[in-house]
Amino acid sequence: FDPAAFQARSITVDGNTLAIRAYEGLAYVARPVEPAYQCLNLYIPAAYFEGGEVGGFTAATAPIFLPNQIGGYMPALPGKLEGRAFGPPPGGGQPPAGAGRPPVPAGGAMPNAIQYALSRGFVVAAPGARGRTLQAASGEYTGKAPAAIVDLKAAVRYLRANRERLPGNTERIISNGTSAGGALSALLGASGGQADYAPYLAALGAADARDDIFAVSAYCPITNLAHADAAYEWQFAGVDTYQKIDISMLDYQVQRKTVSGTLTARQREVSAALAASFPAYVNSLNLRAADGSPLQLAADGQGSFRDHVASLLLQSARSAMAQGRDLSALDYLQWQAGQPVAVRWPQYLAYLGRMKTPPAFDALDLSSGENQLFGSATLDKRHFTAFGRQNGSVANASVAEADVVRMMEPLSYIGQAGGKPAAHWRIRHGSKDRDTSLAVPVILATALRNHGYQVDLALPWDVPHSGDYDLPSLFDWAAAISRQH
Ligand code: DHB
Repeated sequence: FDPAAFQARSITVDGNTLAIRAYEGLAYVARPVEPAYQCLNLYIPAAYFEGGEVGGFTAATAPIFLPNQIGGYMPALPGKLEGRAFGPPPGGGQPPAGAGRPPVPAGGAMPNAIQYALSRGFVVAAPGARGRTLQAASGEYTGKAPAAIVDLKAAVRYLRANRERLPGNTERIISNGTSAGGALSALLGASGGQADYAPYLAALGAADARDDIFAVSAYCPITNLAHADAAYEWQFAGVDTYQKIDISMLDYQVQRKTVSGTLTARQREVSAALAASFPAYVNSLNLRAADGSPLQLAADGQGSFRDHVASLLLQSARSAMAQGRDLSALDYLQWQAGQPVAVRWPQYLAYLGRMKTPPAFDALDLSSGENQLFGSATLDKRHFTAFGRQNGSVANASVAEADVVRMMEPLSYIGQAGGKPAAHWRIRHGSKDRDTSLAVPVILATALRNHGYQVDLALPWDVPHSGDYDLPSLFDWAAAISRQH
């Protein structure tokens, strides 16, 4: 890293102009296989090179914001200073149909997360990462699992290896991402320092430095892929119509197209079988509520875990009302003396709608993005669950190695020896998000808490599948934890 090789740029956020040094396209490994993706963009407030302060931070204390741009487990270029802002319209509601994560409407007050982070005094390191569709000229696939997490770890190691040359506190790295990017943000935080990834990092010539991070921000993480099919049917079994979104790539942007339909008899059977397997999984985790009471499910899918999920939705409704939203017309809330007292589950599901067909992630015909994520150097698509392998419809389909599935899962490393998970977590999953079950973020947050990590979890009201929609709150949290001890 050469501190002198920068471009002078500036940003204006909330009417304040800030001078920035931009270092773009920095290779974070010595032997990249996909150089366009295995690099990062680094943006630093110029004041930090002149002894100045921004947002109360200095060159020595500034936290490092590490936003990945990963969507759909696709390849992701490093985020740019001028990139568009992501998130639903302020106040929530449906995003406009069309390409990628919904841009905030032109003229909207929201800067992108990179600019906003800089305005709050954070150093920003935006890493690119390989994804499921990359293929070399040789015909081999180069971005299959665990490539993306290996890349993010290599980026963290690069920052640490250069800590004497860079403003910013490498003991305050805070990762951020949405959806697949939220899953990878969580995985980066959970798997810090784990030896599983060492051979992959060595092969790329990653720096010899630690890769644990301080904190994780994850929006709607599409994680727990080995149990997400069961979780989805636990939530949606009985909802037989769907609106599916096909994800593809156009001009480096993730595209989403809607397809509607009704479940077949076979899909309903699959749904019932998956739903029936979920309680045993949840119970095996021995999750506990804040008061120590067990969060469990009975065979019919009812129980304290489900009540806990419903209570988080109620909390979300109450915060929305406290912020002035009128929810009184909603039939999926039960009311008493002007207060919501329960979520009416079938009505809530009707409002939410099913988006995916069972199995939602390990598709029997290998058609999901996750099947492609778990391909190998020579196979584009594979199963990654026992259910998928046993019930799959593609002759001679293969299944991903258990080690690879483990390396893509944050829960594999929570409460496991050998690493150092992030101390602080902020997890958001909108109450209108049906890309994965609400159980997925709730399990992750609860397991983290039960192992002593600090977790701020909320299911923001009426927010669809999206991220970066509450940057002021995100950075209030990030600044506050960074200043502790
Ligand atoms: C994303 C969405 C999905 O529904 C999924 O299965 C994987 C990734 C995404 O938006 O990144």
